[in-house]
Amino acid sequence: MKKIRMAIVGATGLVGRTALKVLEEKKLPVDEYVLFASSKSAGKKLKFMGKDYIVQELNELSFDSGFDYAIFSAGGSTSKKYAPIAASKGCIVVDNSSAFRMDDNVPLVVPEVNPEEIIKNHGIIANPNCSTIQAVVALKPLDDKYKIKRIVYSTYQAVSGAGKNGVIDLDNGIKNYLTNKSYDEDSSDSDIPNSQDNSNYDLVKFDHPIFSNCLPHIDVFLDNGYTKEEEKMINETRKILNKPDLKVTATTVRVPVFNSHSESINVEFENDFKLDELINTLKNSPGIILQDDPKRSIYPLAINASGHDEVFVGRIRRDYSVKSGINFWVVADNIRKGAASNAIQIVERLLIH
Ligand code: A2P
Repeated sequence: MKKIRMAIVGATGLVGRTALKVLEEKKLPVDEYVLFASSKSAGKKLKFMGKDYIVQELNELSFDSGFDYAIFSAGGSTSKKYAPIAASKGCIVVDNSSAFRMDDNVPLVVPEVNPEEIIKNHGIIANPNCSTIQAVVALKPLDDKYKIKRIVYSTYQAVSGAGKNGVIDLDNGIKNYLTNKSYDEDSSDSDIPNSQDNSNYDLVKFDHPIFSNCLPHIDVFLDNGYTKEEEKMINETRKILNKPDLKVTATTVRVPVFNSHSESINVEFENDFKLDELINTLKNSPGIILQDDPKRSIYPLAINASGHDEVFVGRIRRDYSVKSGINFWVVADNIRKGAASNAIQIVERLLIH
């Protein structure tokens, strides 16, 4: 029987390493894995499936040996260059970058939402942006039942979404604060971190200190005043829900949280709804865990979502400012469900076809 081979491109990065962990957990029927990264990591050993794997340098010939599947998590330029090469050699690429997401010939897939798109691939399947994935898992069942008219996203995004350097900036900010903290132990207000406590080190990822701060700036700014991250959420939501004219707006914010994105989502519907029915719909939908008992302080939290593949929803309440609408709070592990796990769930579906 033919051996199934899978490539992990960007295996040394945050998403790549998490993909290895998820693959170890899932034990897919794959016979052989090959781990790729840049020349910087060539020859490096990574522990995977109880063995030492030697990381290979990715190059134009890497896919000549024949791969069935590849998961790319090595940034847009690597995907742009190498994903078409892999696809031309018969490999199906699940790409974590934004390079092909809005390409009409490339399905943009969240398995709980639009699995039917998977088979329409021409060798490349795009994994959506992390903040979009968790939002649409929660929005799809509501759209099916109540028909979404408008969405307002406000995100609170973890530093892990910016890769290793994002995590380093928060880590350095915390260490710097703890090192330079000189305050009178009896004074209650003098230990509030200020900008000086916070900027005494070189930032490697963000334009401003992330510790003790919120940055309304994720990815680059566009001419229209939005960031590319906001534009991605808007366009990708429309594509995945297959509603090209849907009214969507977004403000995306980086917050000093290591992992898991939180989102406040305001939705307006065409149809009326009963709140208890709507809550039940969410509760019974795939990939969702309902945590909604605010009086007992139960609602989704980043630290609880980390390490899980489900999307956590709560704080579900009627928006009384419109005829039919809700506000709710959606949290998920942005490196797992927002990237590695979603990609692997797509490969799982390909394997059973
Ligand atoms: P490397 O570690 O060799 O630089 P993160 O987003 O967490 O920083 O991870 C980015 C991932 O993409 C890393 O595994 C990195 O490998 C990989 N990568 C970056 N550039 C290339 C490239 N030109 N070819 C292959 N992998 C790359």
